Amino acid sequence: MSITQTACAQNRDAPDLFAQFCANCHGPDLGGGSAPSMLDDVWTYGGTGTDEELAHQIAKGNLEKGMPAWESVFNEAEIRALVVFIRERRAGYQRNRETLPAPPADLVLHTQQHDFVIETVTDEVDTPWSINWLPDGTMLITEKSGSLRLLRDGELLPPVMDTPWVDGAGQAGLLEVAPHPDYATNGWIYLSFSDPATTPAGANVSFTKIVRGRITDGTWTDEEVIYAADIAHYRQPGSVHYGNRIAFDDTGHIFFSIGDRGAQQHAQDLGRPNGKIHRLHDDGRIPNDNPFVADPTALPSIWSYGHRNPQGLDFDPATGELWSTEHGPRGGDELNLITRSTNYGWPLITYGMNYNGTPITARTAAAGMAQPVIHWTPSIAVCGIDFYEGDLFPGWRGNLLVTALAQQHLRRVVIVDNQVVEQEILFQDFGRCRDVASGPDGAIYVALNRPDRIVRLVPAPTAQP
Ligand code: HEC
Repeated sequence: MSITQTACAQNRDAPDLFAQFCANCHGPDLGGGSAPSMLDDVWTYGGTGTDEELAHQIAKGNLEKGMPAWESVFNEAEIRALVVFIRERRAGYQRNRETLPAPPADLVLHTQQHDFVIETVTDEVDTPWSINWLPDGTMLITEKSGSLRLLRDGELLPPVMDTPWVDGAGQAGLLEVAPHPDYATNGWIYLSFSDPATTPAGANVSFTKIVRGRITDGTWTDEEVIYAADIAHYRQPGSVHYGNRIAFDDTGHIFFSIGDRGAQQHAQDLGRPNGKIHRLHDDGRIPNDNPFVADPTALPSIWSYGHRNPQGLDFDPATGELWSTEHGPRGGDELNLITRSTNYGWPLITYGMNYNGTPITARTAAAGMAQPVIHWTPSIAVCGIDFYEGDLFPGWRGNLLVTALAQQHLRRVVIVDNQVVEQEILFQDFGRCRDVASGPDGAIYVALNRPDRIVRLVPAPTAQP
């Protein structure tokens, strides 16, 4: 590094640069988001984590794994300052890690319609990704690292044995869990996960797989494959953009999302499974009324396409319509109303730009491509969603609850005639909000990451009847 560069008054401040260019993925406090935490004890890429290795990583990036290259954006002094900044924050975190904030149990949060408190349901889980319930009130929780947990009568049980082996690197992992709508009669539970695989050259090409099975005496049994991609043709190297939410309709179909896996252009290619929302019969068969079954160049499971990384998927119980939230790049997070055979435009149209500030495209709209119902720019890192149907918060019934990883909040979105008419942030800054679900008790449950916990929103004591 040259002295003139270090002394140059025009070097930009590392904290500002971090907030502007890095926080989007690594989190505003460096605690991670879509990209790894830089506070914990592991360097996922930078070898032993020397200053030189980190500077090299920032300059050159790791495109395959989703880390952009920054050498054209920053000078050497700025990169060096970013390394120092990361080191300082990490040291501070390591000193204070015992005192990370948990939502205080007696903190009453006031919002437009309801006052509530946030109760911790469990803090013994490891990166909870999805939460759901069995009809008897048992909570199902996936941990990204690969375990399926049950929480019954307030007790977190040990991981279910013999669940599928998963790739847990990067954004991969054990992702969604969803009981069949007729679970009470058939006992099926569906899991989506990153199925591990490597190429002969050793590249990680894990890809979405969906299975269903039953839990018998704490063990995963009767497993059937519902969806698996052809390894030879479709698998992508790298560990980003798996998507992977599941939603069932009332007529025996399973819908699920697969992100673009970092290969943007595949989202427009109907011969590829990535960047799509798919629809199958609940046993994995292709419905013969799917939109592309007659097109020999298209995969018959595809329902809609042009998606980047849809990580929220839910039917509106009032209208029967399917909604999805999707991570944009830098900006352009989307809420979409999902309809048959529709092209949602990624990467040909977007409200976002590349992470290093260069444009992806100048176009935000085009003929034949659907517009988002709304977009969030800058990105909130939008994740799981749920239409609230409980009784504890009557003023919120029918509203869409939306989680945000990077901006660490839970948002209430009011939709009327397929338009968003109002939004309110219900709480923020207690960790990344990964998933939300209305519990059988009418409370609102949220899966938080870093610190990892499941919390529930219940009406404040004074507000209870
Ligand atoms: C598009 C998302 C994204 C943005 C923006 C981003 N990174 Fe990364 N970064 C990643 C991912 C993903 C990885 C992990 C790559 C891997 O798994 O090897 C990573 C890894 C790193 C690492 C290595 C961490 C380790 O544990 O070894 C450093 C250092 C780093 N990033 C710094 C930065 C800095 C500084 C910026 C801003 C100038 C930045 N990143 C912006 C996605 C991003």
